[in-house]
Amino acid sequence: MENRDSFVSSLGILLAMAGSAVGLGNLWRFPYMVGTNGGAAFIIIYLLIVAVLALPIMYSEFILGRKAQSNIIGGFRKLAPGTRWGFVGVICLLCTVMIISFYSVVGGWTIDYLLKSLTLSFTSSDAEIDSMFTDLVSSVWQPLIYMFIFIVVTGCILLAGVKDGIEKYSKILMPLLFVMVIIIAVHSVTLPNSGGGVEFLFKPDFSLVTAATFLDALGQAFFSLSIGAGMVFTYGSYVKRKENIVSLSAQTAIMDTLFAVIAGVAIMPAVFAFGISPSEGPGLVFVTLPYIFAQIPYGSILAILFFFVLFIAAITSSISLLEVIVAYMIEEWKLSRKTSVIISVIVITILGSFCSLSQGVMSDVLIMGSNIFDVFDITSANILMPLGALSFVLFAGWKLKKEDFMNEISSDGIYKFCPSFRLFIYWSVKYLAPITVSVIMISGLF
Ligand code: TRP
Repeated sequence: MENRDSFVSSLGILLAMAGSAVGLGNLWRFPYMVGTNGGAAFIIIYLLIVAVLALPIMYSEFILGRKAQSNIIGGFRKLAPGTRWGFVGVICLLCTVMIISFYSVVGGWTIDYLLKSLTLSFTSSDAEIDSMFTDLVSSVWQPLIYMFIFIVVTGCILLAGVKDGIEKYSKILMPLLFVMVIIIAVHSVTLPNSGGGVEFLFKPDFSLVTAATFLDALGQAFFSLSIGAGMVFTYGSYVKRKENIVSLSAQTAIMDTLFAVIAGVAIMPAVFAFGISPSEGPGLVFVTLPYIFAQIPYGSILAILFFFVLFIAAITSSISLLEVIVAYMIEEWKLSRKTSVIISVIVITILGSFCSLSQGVMSDVLIMGSNIFDVFDITSANILMPLGALSFVLFAGWKLKKEDFMNEISSDGIYKFCPSFRLFIYWSVKYLAPITVSVIMISGLF
């Protein structure tokens, strides 16, 4: 077996984690979840979940991966030999495969919109921009081809290794993306009639909140932070024991949340200004942003820049997803990295094609009322990731001895957090997280 890769620097790990977290989840999924769940109240619940629940889960997944030094399937076998805990790995792997399948479809849309921005195709006609999106997603070949390109680019980067490519480019591109989103947000709130959107974002209406809202917020938090599906576990397995897991996780969560909230501010006011329905769904961003770009000075240049960095953000996320699968194949099936990448690219292309076609010719294939794309999306975020997260905290809080847990959190005592903070982490992993996740999941599902 080849030598296990590992990250070289703490900054590299942070960038890889942030690169994974910040992606279409922030700029595409978050705004439409906010839109379909009634706005401000959803955002408040989301922020609470990130602050209270997401971190204990991320710590748990991280320390387990670092302890196991192995892929998600072999890792659990190593941590708890001969027990049923191995099943956690299976859930996570399945979840990752589902996520990357529909993620690649949206990644393909991003490429298409990047090309559209290069050919200056955004006009200021509402009807044209609307039908541009519907025409794209419902056609057969165009989205399939771009999805395939997206998957192949992801695969090629993983072939080359993560260190020199992604670490280096993320340093430049992530700040650029951040600046772009802020520019769009400023333009969006200054559009005429954007007031409704600002109100929608900041004036909560709790009468719209149901148990399902909590589950959606939970799923969105897990999706956006990439937790509960084995990605943090896998990256954790490439991390040395001297790294500060607590601060790495907190920094990742803060960056990710900032991106999401600013993306909301960039998109919602424009949605209202242009009279689009906020509950439009997955097309929301693709319909709204071209409107803004068509209206503002230098809009066509900003559009190119924006869709380019969005594409990069999507790629840094999808490589983290693919790495979970590839690490598994290399270590468990004893394949080379190249063969593993090729096989996974083929599998994802097949599954992704169903997701893509379910927006058009296969839209009448429904499973419990939803098309294949939505089934993959909802099942992974609202069922499998919470299950994965639950398993991580239960394992870290109940199966590890308390001293071991403290040791892992403090990286063998290198980082001396104050005792009450350490105890708080331990209690949130042991009781708070498992109880809250179970309650939200059960009440949301039934
Ligand atoms: N967090 C990414 C986003 O917001 C998506 C993602 C990347 C992901 N890797 C993941 C989601 C692992 C779940 C698990 O776009």
